[in-house]
Amino acid sequence: MSATIIDGKGLAQHMREALKNRVASFPNPPGLAVIIVGDNPASQVYVSNKEKACVAAGIHSEVIALPGETSELDLLDRIEKLNADPKIDGILVQLPLPKHLNSRRVLDSILPEKDVDGFHPSNVGALFLGNPGLQPCTPHGVMKMLEHENVEIRGKHAVIVGASNIVGKPMAVMLLHAGATVTICNSKTPDLGHHTRDADILVVAVGRPNIVTGDMVKEGAVVIDVGMNRLENGKLAGDVEFESAKMKAAKITPVPGGVGPMTIAMLLENTVEAAARKREEAV
Ligand code: GUN
Repeated sequence: MSATIIDGKGLAQHMREALKNRVASFPNPPGLAVIIVGDNPASQVYVSNKEKACVAAGIHSEVIALPGETSELDLLDRIEKLNADPKIDGILVQLPLPKHLNSRRVLDSILPEKDVDGFHPSNVGALFLGNPGLQPCTPHGVMKMLEHENVEIRGKHAVIVGASNIVGKPMAVMLLHAGATVTICNSKTPDLGHHTRDADILVVAVGRPNIVTGDMVKEGAVVIDVGMNRLENGKLAGDVEFESAKMKAAKITPVPGGVGPMTIAMLLENTVEAAARKREEAV
């Protein structure tokens, strides 16, 4: 039987409408600053999509596009100004940064309460401990999708392929907190199929087309494809071979139209949440 296709685009749209109403109740709009360094074409598309989504939700948006040769000192200086700017509730530095910049130092310089990516060590630590904080957008969006699809997590085996700081590691912690038994694999794991075939919930976030094929999917599994790869023919593809995997899975996300739109919706939600927390503190 063919899987149900999880409509991330539809759910994200629904969430963005709800956020728009919440934003309208603020005396002044929440603000998001996005910094992009250099001219990576994929990053430019992502940043432009984030900006459009902000404007549509009524969020004040500032895009700071800096030349590829920007020094670390200049970038840190920009972030310091945004940290102190009362119009700005969220700051996002688009990754990857040019090689001469130390990403860790840059991300650590963002105030944790404005860190809408959830990449600052204090937000990472809060997630690890189960304390309140801002959570990384992509895995948070995946959790929302699973919840919306009424996917049972407690007692299930979740297998994550990919151990990045942006997706794989935080995804593992979120699923663990939700009661799953979690296995984390990566692109070098020998006999990857041995692990993936045992997954009730399979999350793939490696950035390599077809790393997971239908024969590596358990009958009735829920498959979440975080990959976003541009093929030689110009088409977008995920990490999962969709046609064969959908014949085995109970539910599966498409690419595009699955996880990607949810990431943006969660970024907007984090920005509004950061703004709400700041306003609560001020009362
Ligand atoms: N590059 C790819 N994904 C992300 C993300 O979630 N946040 C940032 N800042 N950069 C990215």
